[in-house]
Amino acid sequence: RVGVTRIPVVVHVVFNTAAQNLSEDQITSQIDVLNEDFRALNPDIDQVPPVWKPLVADSRIEFHLATQDPQGQPTDGITRTQTQAAKFNIRTNTVKHASSGGHDAWPADRYLNLWVCPRIFDPADPNEILGYAQFPGGPAETDGVVIGHRFFGTTGTASAPFNGGRTATHEVGHWLNLLHIWGDDGQGCNGGDLVADTPNSGGPNFGTPTFPKLSCSNDPDGDMFVNYMDYTDDQGMFMFTKGQVARMEAALDSARSSFNG
Ligand code: ARG
Ligand code: ZN
Ligand code: CA
Repeated sequence: RVGVTRIPVVVHVVFNTAAQNLSEDQITSQIDVLNEDFRALNPDIDQVPPVWKPLVADSRIEFHLATQDPQGQPTDGITRTQTQAAKFNIRTNTVKHASSGGHDAWPADRYLNLWVCPRIFDPADPNEILGYAQFPGGPAETDGVVIGHRFFGTTGTASAPFNGGRTATHEVGHWLNLLHIWGDDGQGCNGGDLVADTPNSGGPNFGTPTFPKLSCSNDPDGDMFVNYMDYTDDQGMFMFTKGQVARMEAALDSARSSFNG
């Protein structure tokens, strides 16, 4: 892959109350954050601890609201659907189907589908889910990223500490095949993210930890909690690594190659 890959995005706004029918400003604020973060142009990048600065990578991936709909007609890249549902099931993907109160996906080989909805829940988890993504290689009808409206963009209904647009950065990372940096093995030290330059780490980090935060004999530098693929607050995550960018590249060269060229 040479140059920059530009990915057309359709934002499906699925709202119950009028306040959840997000402004165009809130939507473009999210696209702007994606473009900063994936190009390593985010203004907070200087907060990366010096030891990891050499690993910071520009993915050469950019995002823009689609200008043509699936039929080739002009569009602003936003669909708006009022729904009776106040929450959507992460297991059954109800937001991704008009028949269950959501909106059907646009062709997943041509668009990144980004659904924004009132609330996401997991029947097995009492906590609200900020967002979720489908990894490359899954069914087209459910491909894309889903985000709760309060965790989307940097203005409007976006609410602290998840009002920095980083939920979408994290989820689009998954959509491009990135795994969590702690390896999803609970607090264990055997799981990995299949990326060599992110330190082996125990479990997820939350909030805004202080450097260094040690686990899994990863001293002296410890967990890379400033990585977008950890669980820290939006104001505490600033980077993808070179190894992560190589993994996203590999996805763009295979399962997601329809977005190249
Ligand atoms: N819980 C979500 C996931 O596992 C997203 C976490 C996003 N973190 C954030 N600071 N916005 O995919
Ligand atoms: Zn995640
Ligand atoms: Ca681990």
